Amino acid sequence: MERYGYEEYDAPILELSEIYKAKSGDELVSQQTYSFEDRGGRDVTIRPEMTPTVARMVAAKRQELSYPLRWYSIPNLWRYERPQKGRLREHWQLNVDLFGVQTIDGEIELITIASDIMREFGAEENMFTIRINSRKLTSIIMADYLGLDAMQAHLMIKLMDRKSKIPKEAFEAEARQIFDASEADSGFKKLVALSEAKSMAELPEKLLASSPIKQVQLLFTHLKEAGIKNAVFDVSLMRGFDYYTDIVFEVFDNDPQNNRSLFGGGRYDGLVGLFGAEAVPTIGFGMGDVTIADFLQTHELLPEIHSETDVYLVVIGDVLRQAQGVAKLMRQEGVNVAVELLSKKPEKQIKTAVKKNIPFALFVGEQELNSERFSLKDLATQGEEALSLERVIARVLDRRNRGVKSRSDLE
Ligand code: HAM
Repeated sequence: MERYGYEEYDAPILELSEIYKAKSGDELVSQQTYSFEDRGGRDVTIRPEMTPTVARMVAAKRQELSYPLRWYSIPNLWRYERPQKGRLREHWQLNVDLFGVQTIDGEIELITIASDIMREFGAEENMFTIRINSRKLTSIIMADYLGLDAMQAHLMIKLMDRKSKIPKEAFEAEARQIFDASEADSGFKKLVALSEAKSMAELPEKLLASSPIKQVQLLFTHLKEAGIKNAVFDVSLMRGFDYYTDIVFEVFDNDPQNNRSLFGGGRYDGLVGLFGAEAVPTIGFGMGDVTIADFLQTHELLPEIHSETDVYLVVIGDVLRQAQGVAKLMRQEGVNVAVELLSKKPEKQIKTAVKKNIPFALFVGEQELNSERFSLKDLATQGEEALSLERVIARVLDRRNRGVKSRSDLE
């Protein structure tokens, strides 16, 4: 995010429950929040998402902030969902939000970032698809094409958002109920026809001429120019939250083993204004750690875990104080050192270092201290060398600077 000029912000994990009511959507608030009354009698909620919080923060300082305002954060969020693959009750979510940009340039930046993050994780373009829709188009479809009033449209959007999670028959029954009884047959037929449209060109002509469609077309043209070829239009993409106002997008895994949404977001121009400030056009997305980990696992892209510790200091005999002195000198030069404290046998100490994926072990005993030459063992290659402390430090830092973190990097 910093490569794109985004600044990190932080926020409290507890908010007044009211900031989610009417702003996030009924399902999240009534069924998925951890809410309670605090000692002051206030109704509070552990944040289930970051968007209302960040909108509240920007609204409070709207005039002091400079735009375009680029903010990111990686909060932990709590939702009372049924734990299952891709869904846990606590997850961490990268939130990326751009405030103050009304034009399509906002969407282009955010979707490009989403794509770049995936590529940075090692994903090829054919491994994932970016699905794009427009809430404005959805509104036109609901009102003009399906003939639904605002209440019915709201229910239909929620139902379509759950479509992939419920049986086909249940979807049909619920959809029919939303239409006025006399319209149920024809309405449902139209709905099916619509969801079968695989591209913008297959949409009914009346919709093709609408201005939201023009906006979507413009976005696709720019994304192509930006080299993003795996974005597709998906008329059935809804995104659950009520606050989205225009373009919405979601990144999907293409692998049949994990064919699911990975993360998503969209434009929400009205939310900051709901907190009493003048409206600020905003677009953002949230990317969860659980779904991205599943994606990386499915595509064998999970990075090997490496240790931030460079050296495990193996203490031989009764020289812990002197060993701490050696560690101090190394730390002053920027080396990360862990010192063994449990007087274990040297073999056991090395085992600990290997288990923790620490690249080097440095042996410190009477003999090493007297001769001022220390044996440095590379735990990946098993190579061992006796060096002055200065050389030890140079060797360790050199390896770190070359970005060698794991055995596979060496191979
Ligand atoms: P969301 O679609 O609810 O959007 O969540 C975004 C992503 O967070 C999901 O696609 C998924 O990766 C992850 N996620 C959500 N719930 C869970 C869960 N229970 N367990 C694991 N991962 C989960 C939002 O939250 C919006 N506030 C995002 C946004 C930011 N829109 C604009 N700015």
